[in-house]
Amino acid sequence: MCGIIGVTGRSGVSRLLIDGLRSLEYRGYDSAGIAVQTEDGLTVLRRAGKLAELDAVVSELEPFGTVGIGHTRWATHGAPTERNAHPVVDGPERVAVIHNGIIENHEVLREELVATGVEFRSDTDTEILAHLVSRELAGGASLGQAVRTTAQRLEGSYAFAAISADHPGVLAVVRCQSPLILGVGDEASYLASDIPALLPHTKRVMSLDDGDVAVLTPGTITVTDVDGVEVERDVRTINWDPVQVQKGGYRHFMMKEIEEQPSAVSATIAQCLSEDAEHIRIPALDALGPRLETIKRITFVACGTSWHAGLAAKFYVENLCGIPVDVDYASEFRYRQMQAGPDHLIVPITQSGETLDTLTAVRQAKAAGSPIIAVVNVAESSADREADASVLTVAGPEIGVASTKAFTTQLVALYMLALDLASRRGALTREQLDERVQPLRRLRFAMEGALRHKEHVRRIAYHFSQARDFLFLGRGVNYPIALEGALKLKEISYIHAEGYPAGEMKHGPIALIDANMPVVVIATPGRVYDKVLANIQEVRSRDGQVIAVCAEGDERVRSQADHVLEVPVVDEDISGLVNVIPLQLLSYYIAERRGCDIDQPRNLAKSVTVE
Ligand code: F6R
Repeated sequence: MCGIIGVTGRSGVSRLLIDGLRSLEYRGYDSAGIAVQTEDGLTVLRRAGKLAELDAVVSELEPFGTVGIGHTRWATHGAPTERNAHPVVDGPERVAVIHNGIIENHEVLREELVATGVEFRSDTDTEILAHLVSRELAGGASLGQAVRTTAQRLEGSYAFAAISADHPGVLAVVRCQSPLILGVGDEASYLASDIPALLPHTKRVMSLDDGDVAVLTPGTITVTDVDGVEVERDVRTINWDPVQVQKGGYRHFMMKEIEEQPSAVSATIAQCLSEDAEHIRIPALDALGPRLETIKRITFVACGTSWHAGLAAKFYVENLCGIPVDVDYASEFRYRQMQAGPDHLIVPITQSGETLDTLTAVRQAKAAGSPIIAVVNVAESSADREADASVLTVAGPEIGVASTKAFTTQLVALYMLALDLASRRGALTREQLDERVQPLRRLRFAMEGALRHKEHVRRIAYHFSQARDFLFLGRGVNYPIALEGALKLKEISYIHAEGYPAGEMKHGPIALIDANMPVVVIATPGRVYDKVLANIQEVRSRDGQVIAVCAEGDERVRSQADHVLEVPVVDEDISGLVNVIPLQLLSYYIAERRGCDIDQPRNLAKSVTVE
């Protein structure tokens, strides 16, 4: 949601800003703009719609300068029009501001500014920032001071950056509970809301704490904390490769990321093994110390696809450790009478590490005394920093809005977390734990095997591409996979789809089934295999069309289903990682056939940093 980029110390800055915004497109947006400090003041260019609109005008005018800011806006306050696009300027157009987040007290501040004669030219909450910074500068403040004084008046979550025509070469930025990362260069400095925008320029990054203000000049970054005291913040080198944020010959990031899953899952497994790669070892559990023994309950909190991973984790932890588990939508958890405390472990699951609902749930649980272990893909993201410890998934940057490799890496990390927890609490012996390593090592080959059926999945997808509704059924550890299959389909193809536990079908959804209703059933070997076959019969006897995900060569399923999506067989516990692949492919090809914007589906944002 909203992408931010800022650069100081590079010539041709307007092109860098456009390229930076392009690498943040996946976050979701509906207008875009840049502001460049030029010899004549500030040149601000904004357009509603896709980046191509802005790119066209920037290419024509090519404002020249070495300092600039850029923004992709996902509308919250005010329609997605040019008038409301960022950067937003003050009255004399000497200050330009970009902002991610929501200023909750913007109405009060707006009234105050209007009372002093300020005229507003947009409907955004952001515009107050430009006027407040401008007022401070007029009173003699430096740009950094002006941003700090403005931030002191704000309520809400935000990251905002400002440039001023009267402060050449300087960028100032403040962060409070919204994503922001700084890039450290030798002769240039950068800011962005996410790492992909920085990768082409530098791998040295700095994170800010809440309330920090950073002043960037070419090659220097000065940070002051919430009290205005100058502080040092760590600079770390990120190990993501710039090629990971390029399509590399694929039409869509989503397909590239589906195909990257075997290697991403292998890398995540390796991360959860001891140095000799023989034993499962989750160092994050060490952070709990003696508290590990006293944990009586675990709650996984997450949103969307990550919440589905949480449902699978419930299955793992309850089966392996015998600890009661809840799985909660973060947006619900945070508004309920919270069950949290020192003997209640909270595990946020988040790809981005910046989803506001998930972060708020973490903060509240932490305040209630719960230990927090995050399962997160982005190191140094807010979730990683705020948790007591993290299990890092190794999916690399996920650019397609529809989550794929982040999900499967979450599944495997959660499974390994459950195994290590079970062993540390005496529910599994060391030998039993070690026996699980080999099947995990083989998992990559099974996932590659599932990908080899791609062409067959495509044919089935094309056959059903005009369906109006879909039902996805699964049981046990494959129930979350059914939910995930349905979510993928609705996200990228806009076909209505529902996921259900197969055994629940009789209690309602069966009424939907007729000859026009494709029903995807996950029917791979496991404890509930026979039950699922019975569910297939129930669908067939109501003329529903069954597309079954089944083991390669499973004649029983083949004889009962209308179509099969075959996958290699693995242990039931980890079967979701393989079974989800044909479902991801099915959605992809249906969306492709329907001409949908696969990587940036309508209305969706990759990183949901507002409530
Ligand atoms: C679906 C999808 C979303 C995210 C959700 C949580 O394909 O990507 O449902 O899973 O917005 O995001 P994270 O995991 O970044 O907290």
